[in-house]
Amino acid sequence: MGNNPQTAAMNTQAKTIADSIILGCWQLDDRSWKSLTEEDIERTIGTYQAWGVRIFDTADIYGRSERLLGKCLKGRTDCKIYTKAVFFNGLPTPKQIQSKVENSLRNLQRDYLDCLQVHWHNPQLDFAETFKVLNRYLEQGKIHQLGVTNFDTLMLKKALEYAPIQTHQVQYSLIDRRVEKSMQELCVENNIQLLCYGPLAGGFLSDKFLGVKSPPAEGEHARGFYYSNMIAKHGDWQGVQTLLSKMAEIGKKYQFSVSQVALNWLIQQPGVGAMISGLTENRQQIQKNMESLQPLIRSEDIQELSRCSDELFEQVGDIYSYERGV
Ligand SMILES: NC(=O)c1ccc[n+]([C@@H]2O[C@H](COP(=O)([O-])OP(=O)(O)OC[C@H]3O[C@@H](n4cnc5c(N)ncnc54)[C@H](OP(=O)(O)O)[C@@H]3O)[C@@H](O)[C@H]2O)c1
Repeated sequence: MGNNPQTAAMNTQAKTIADSIILGCWQLDDRSWKSLTEEDIERTIGTYQAWGVRIFDTADIYGRSERLLGKCLKGRTDCKIYTKAVFFNGLPTPKQIQSKVENSLRNLQRDYLDCLQVHWHNPQLDFAETFKVLNRYLEQGKIHQLGVTNFDTLMLKKALEYAPIQTHQVQYSLIDRRVEKSMQELCVENNIQLLCYGPLAGGFLSDKFLGVKSPPAEGEHARGFYYSNMIAKHGDWQGVQTLLSKMAEIGKKYQFSVSQVALNWLIQQPGVGAMISGLTENRQQIQKNMESLQPLIRSEDIQELSRCSDELFEQVGDIYSYERGV
């Protein structure tokens, strides 16, 4: 799979937390995660900033997330906010694109978007015109950087003809490694940074779930509906348990918890620019995540983890294939 852990490890050595960990703020959407008060959110964002986090990920479709982030980070020119424009159905008109961009600018209380990541649900529709409009915003300085999220290989190849894509946000963890089939290589070749979401599979890849007989019924919570579904597409709960045991075993050598092993493995994969770690208000969990990259796990153990994942999980389809229903 084009993996050279030694080179990847050397690249990673020079990275700081501020480069490597983006704070995922889907969790501010109280429709999909546990409900946090605005005070909790402000305090928690402050904790992450104190740890050195400077990039925050949100989306137009994450409920109150953009608005609350805008409020918490008002005037913080040292912090960047990456948001998304999600196009679910038909082709958007230039007016609809404009209103999306202006809505995000208003919510975030900023004059420009640091990075706009396009999610495009229907690959049958040609998105050339949409990128034409977004390119104009780039030229005008309303958007500083363009990215995409959940594009499959063909879609990304096409997008590269239309716009200067700098980042690609994809799901990537020891369970979901569809990116390794062809996307990783395409991104490396084109100098596109992979920004990886779900690095802990919503929290499943942690000591909290080691030895737990069956996945919790959390139907209202993203872990229950999004990540349980993801696990079922790649394998099963028994496979998750076997993987967690292997991660715990390797983690012991480095005094790492399971979640730290998950993050350390991920940052050492080729093309990974940063991990998008989903917000937690639990200070111990925050500390563990922030202290997960040093020391780097040695390449033989990284390979052992990859081998174990290969045996337990299937990688069917390209990026976002089953989510798109193909
Ligand atoms: N582009 C897309 O389609 C897409 C899709 C999904 C996500 N995203 C973005 O990526 C971000 C990250 O994804 P994610 O939040 O799903 O991934 P994640 O980092 O795998 O999961 C985050 C959750 O794991 C739990 N957790 C965090 N640290 C932990 C630790 N040390 N030990 C145990 N549990 C821990 C927390 O939940 P508890 O504390 O409640 O257990 C936290 O909310 C999202 O916030 C969003 O910005 C994008």
